[in-house]
Amino acid sequence: MKKILHDRFGRKIEYLRLSVTDRCDMKCDYCRIDSFKDYSEKESWLNFDEIERIVRAFVELGVGHVRLTGGEPLLRKNIDHLAQRLSSIDQLTDLSLSTNCSRIESMADRLYRSGVQRLNVSLDTLNPDTFYQITKSDLSSVLTGLQAAKKVGFDPIRINTVVMRGVNDTEIEQILDYCSENSFTLRLIETMPMGQAGQDSTRRYIDLQEIKKSLQKKYNLIPIVLPGGGPARYYHIADSDIKIGFITPLSQHFCDTCNRIRLTVDGILHTCLGQEHEYPLRDIIRHGVSDKELKQHIMQAIALKPEKHEFKENPTISVRSMTRTGG
Ligand code: 5AD
Repeated sequence: MKKILHDRFGRKIEYLRLSVTDRCDMKCDYCRIDSFKDYSEKESWLNFDEIERIVRAFVELGVGHVRLTGGEPLLRKNIDHLAQRLSSIDQLTDLSLSTNCSRIESMADRLYRSGVQRLNVSLDTLNPDTFYQITKSDLSSVLTGLQAAKKVGFDPIRINTVVMRGVNDTEIEQILDYCSENSFTLRLIETMPMGQAGQDSTRRYIDLQEIKKSLQKKYNLIPIVLPGGGPARYYHIADSDIKIGFITPLSQHFCDTCNRIRLTVDGILHTCLGQEHEYPLRDIIRHGVSDKELKQHIMQAIALKPEKHEFKENPTISVRSMTRTGG
């Protein structure tokens, strides 16, 4: 019988976001500040054996979906080998990856064959200057990477766009057209006050209800439910194949259906993106616990999962940057 992991609020925990590096080749200004130095030591990183062991424990407890994330996960050496190992775990039904796509071209095929099924790609603008302004990187490698990913067969490919006033808020229709031409699903995200960079970004925050209203003037948006959609509220644009999702951690938070936990590259389990609560799984496994004890620790950590984040009520609470926690 399939196990189900519940927290004390009755939420089913079935989704593990696994950060495989806290390094990133982009410098998105809402993610980490220029002077950011809080990187973990490489010696503290979980190796592939440790990651596989922890993932197996989660899967045995009922987690069916693992997402590889970072930092930029494609910077982790031999990430396709890790993906291969994880995708061959029975009962891990869904292995996905979040990437900025800048390096995927040369490894898209290997990655696809290793069992990663779905991709989420961070892309906030199609304007090269705006892209540089946000990321200090080059847009063209991302667009080339996206075409390579599409060609090898990743499906669905979802584009995650953080909407920022005065930066990309007037570009949403254009990004939607691009997604529609390429059969990508666009998901708009509200900027969150994660770490110093996220808090500095709150001045550019836009309530996505505003963007939705303005899109509704042009399009007939029909609510739909998408499998594996996570926290996004999706709409189908009438008389088209276009789908668009809204992820609104601030204007309409979705903590009561939160089914996820996060593991950092150095093995710290975070049970809430916006709270400081953490559980050091790496220390636990390096102290030689049995698999049974490891699962008991995981259950203890889940039992402490906070009820909700407080991004709105208490925006300075979250000091961790997104690159550290895993996007
Ligand atoms: N607010 C909202 N989204 C963020 N991301 C990173 N930092 C923030 C933030 N402060 C998103 C990225 C990417 C994913 C990894 O996390 O845009 O889509």
